[in-house]
Parts: sequence; C-alpha cells; structure tokens
Amino acid sequence: MATTRFGIDIGGTGIKGAEVDISTGKLITQRVRVLTPQPATVDAVVPLAAGLVRDAGFSGAVGCAFPAVIKDGTALTAANVDPSWVGASVEDAITKELEGSVVTVVNDADAAGVAEMAFGAGRDVPGVVVMLTVGTGIGSAVFLHGVLVPNTEFGHIEVDGHDAETRASEVAREKHDWSREHWAKQFNRYLEALEKVLWPDLVIIGGGISKEPEKFLPLLKSQAPLVAAKLANEAGIVGAALVARDKAEHSSRIGAARPTDEISR
Ligand code: BGC
Repeated sequence: MATTRFGIDIGGTGIKGAEVDISTGKLITQRVRVLTPQPATVDAVVPLAAGLVRDAGFSGAVGCAFPAVIKDGTALTAANVDPSWVGASVEDAITKELEGSVVTVVNDADAAGVAEMAFGAGRDVPGVVVMLTVGTGIGSAVFLHGVLVPNTEFGHIEVDGHDAETRASEVAREKHDWSREHWAKQFNRYLEALEKVLWPDLVIIGGGISKEPEKFLPLLKSQAPLVAAKLANEAGIVGAALVARDKAEHSSRIGAARPTDEISR
C-alpha cells in the first residue's frame, strides 16, 4: 500500500495542502496555501482545493479537512462557512474536479485530532482524550482508547446562555479586543462546562494559539491534564492524509459511524 496521501485543510482564511508520508506524519512536499475566496461558496472553493493536488502532480488518495459536520462526504452544517455548503457533497465535488483520485472528507477538528493522536500530544494516550481547536470557531475531536467519535461539535455547547465558540474562540477574543487573561476566563468557563459532561483524561489544545503555548497554557484551568497540540498548523493536513482511503478502502468512510476504526499509525 502506498504510504503517501495528499492532505487538504480548508479553513475560513486559507486552503492548505501537502503530500504526507502517513507512516511518519511528515510533510514530504512543501505546504502550499492559497487564500480562501470570499464568499467561500462551494463553486469558488472546490477548484482551488483541487488545484493544490493537481499543481503538486499528485494522483493518489486525497484527504480533505473541512470545518463542518461531515457524514458520508456531505457537509451537514455551516457555522463558519458559506451556507451553500449545507447538503453539498464535498467529497463528490472535489472528486469530480480531480478525475481519478479518490477523496475522503472529514471534519477539520477530527482531522487535527487524528494527527495529534497518531504523531503528537495524544500519542499512546489511553482513555478519553479531547482535542479542541481554537480558531475562527472551536472544533472538538473525542477519542476513546485512540478511536475517534466523529462530529462531536463541542464548540457549540451552551455556556452562560451563549454558543461557546462565540465567547471562547480566538476570533471572539480578537472581535471583542479582549486581553489574553480575559479570554482565558471565558475559555475556562467553557472548559468547566465541558468537563461537567465529559470528564476527559487529557485535553489537547490546538489551533493558532498552540504555536505559543507558554503564553496561554499557564492561564488555563481544567480537571484533566491540559497540553498544547504538537503539530501546530500542519495537524489538519496530516490528519486529512491519515484518513484518506484509497480506492479499495473507500467503501468504509469516516463520518459515517465506524466504531471499530483504529487510528492509522
Ligand atoms: C464548526 C465545526 C468545526 C469548528 C472548527 C465550528 O464552528 O461547527 O464543525 O470543526 O468550527 O473549525
């Protein structure tokens, strides 16, 4: 089986991609980034995402991380993306552009979590691990003994009467011009609410802020040990590549429930 896959990470501001060696989790081509067009409609985004693969001359299996609930390749929500994505098969749209490559689409936080569990802060950690990606929104990925429970969407739990990510995300901090300390208070309220219902054994914090862990980790409080993600802005690409199925494997898809799915190592 080929050990390289192409990972794409579609985000609110950038679309990134690279070829990944899935046996090591290392990028084997330079990470390429194009700006996400505004409005980020299906028609505008899909050709750019497929273009990253084509420009790299890659023709194998492709994985794509996308910021929405993904079931069977289709986006079911659009909290931070254009509403035209709801009900769109992200998988079919990109596959059509690429002619020949098989594309697997996965929620972006799930992708980042899969990468951290395989090669980063969650490696070999048993029990319940929660990865939270803090950026435009808050994404969540939950693992039990290394097995992903897909599409958990814990960024949208209600905290003090608000959708959590509207107060505790990085974009909320920027929008309200909050100090890091004030933001941390909001984030700690969020962690408290989440831990009341989930009781994880480890919390991994990813997203942009994981690049400067010394600035925010000391401000955060949780019941469970809390660590910064290790793969920073490569986690989405690496995780997308790890879940990418080749033609033979593609009949079982992530996002449709696959309770026995093991993380690729
Ligand atoms: C979306 C999630 C996504 C997260 C991070 C949330 O608003 O609902 O699907 O994982 O943002 O991008």
